Amino acid sequence: MKVLVTGGLGFIGSELVRQLVGQHPMTVLNVDALTYAGNMDSIGGCRSSRRHVFEHVDIRNRAALERVFREHRPDKVMHLAAESHVDRSISDPEVFIDTNVKGTHNLLEVAREYWAGLANEAKERFRVHHVSTDEVYGELGPEDPAFTEETPYAPSSPYSASKAASDHLVRAWHRTYGLPVVISNCSNNYGPYQFPEKLIPLMILNAVEGKPLPVYGRGENIRDWLYVEDHARALRHVLEHGGDGRTYNIGGRCERTNLEVVRSVCAILDELKPDPEGPYERLIRFVADRPGHDRRYAIDDTRIATELGWQPQETFESGLRKTVQWYLDNTEWVERVRSGAYRDWIKTNYGMRGES
Ligand code: NAD
Ligand code: TYD
Repeated sequence: MKVLVTGGLGFIGSELVRQLVGQHPMTVLNVDALTYAGNMDSIGGCRSSRRHVFEHVDIRNRAALERVFREHRPDKVMHLAAESHVDRSISDPEVFIDTNVKGTHNLLEVAREYWAGLANEAKERFRVHHVSTDEVYGELGPEDPAFTEETPYAPSSPYSASKAASDHLVRAWHRTYGLPVVISNCSNNYGPYQFPEKLIPLMILNAVEGKPLPVYGRGENIRDWLYVEDHARALRHVLEHGGDGRTYNIGGRCERTNLEVVRSVCAILDELKPDPEGPYERLIRFVADRPGHDRRYAIDDTRIATELGWQPQETFESGLRKTVQWYLDNTEWVERVRSGAYRDWIKTNYGMRGES
């Protein structure tokens, strides 16, 4: 079995690649443009495995994608490559449309042509798994029921709108051309190798460096947190057992306000790396809110639990502790990804916020 994974050098993609190469008799064809969010170091020993092949290709480049399909002849595709950070999408939406919408369109067209030319058994086996987000459903109020696969789309940010558009394209290619697809919509992930622009790694690293912990608004927004290893396991379940044309919501059964999350990070750091200056919570600062900030996300995972028998294994407490420990132990990885471009972004995003 040869699986083409796009975005396999990013946070979730690299976990998926490590699981596929490490636990399955599979070949992984890793297609990644190595943007600021992609990193070769994130796949560790897979780099030298004979069952891992890297193609430095941008999904916006159709000719390059055609060559990859022609040369490697994948059995299945898992599509994770995307621009993924909401705040960046607010500052600079264009690349989100280019990669998430036009890049997905390219991939669908190349996959469709390839699939049409396959012989019976290979054609039967082929599938494109599109990895998406719960943010396409928009925001929930405090008492609203969690998102199901039937919840209407109502994206709020340029990021979630671009992901919603890509989901619509995938469904249209299934309905119109019969392309075999499956879609999964997942809640917020956390864990090792997450780029330190996202909430949890940013808070861990800022805290140990004695920098302010910038909480948007009053920190009351709620996210449903899922440990990245659980997500990658879910993706493997969906790829192997998911129904053709079906959608699966994936969540962590773990709703927390942002302030609760930041306080939990601080409490773990107080134990693992006590600061002589005092508890890390003293660094929390409330800053100007994100425009259009969704209040709450929550996932109803009944479908994937009952149809595919998947459920998360990690609790938030154990997963967060592992994550904090990982960032404390992997300062080399952190230093390598925090390039000049990273420092520019931090200046752009937080320079304009000021304390509220
Ligand atoms: P990430 O930003 O960490 O990684 C994205 C990867 O895609 C990087 O390796 C990058 O180099 C690559 N990439 C970007 N543009 C590309 C292009 N034009 N061509 C080829 N490669 C390109 O993202 P992530 O957090 O690992 O998310 C992976 C997928 O999961 C995304 O589709 C995202 O929308 C979805 N998702 C993420 C979360 C989350 O909490 N992180 C939750 C739900 C869904
Ligand atoms: P983030 O990790 O960017 O994920 P997403 O926007 O996809 O949910 O943010 C998680 C939550 O944390 C979100 O409600 C915004 C908030 N947040 C802060 O309060 N401060 C920060 O510096 C960042 C990056 C996020």
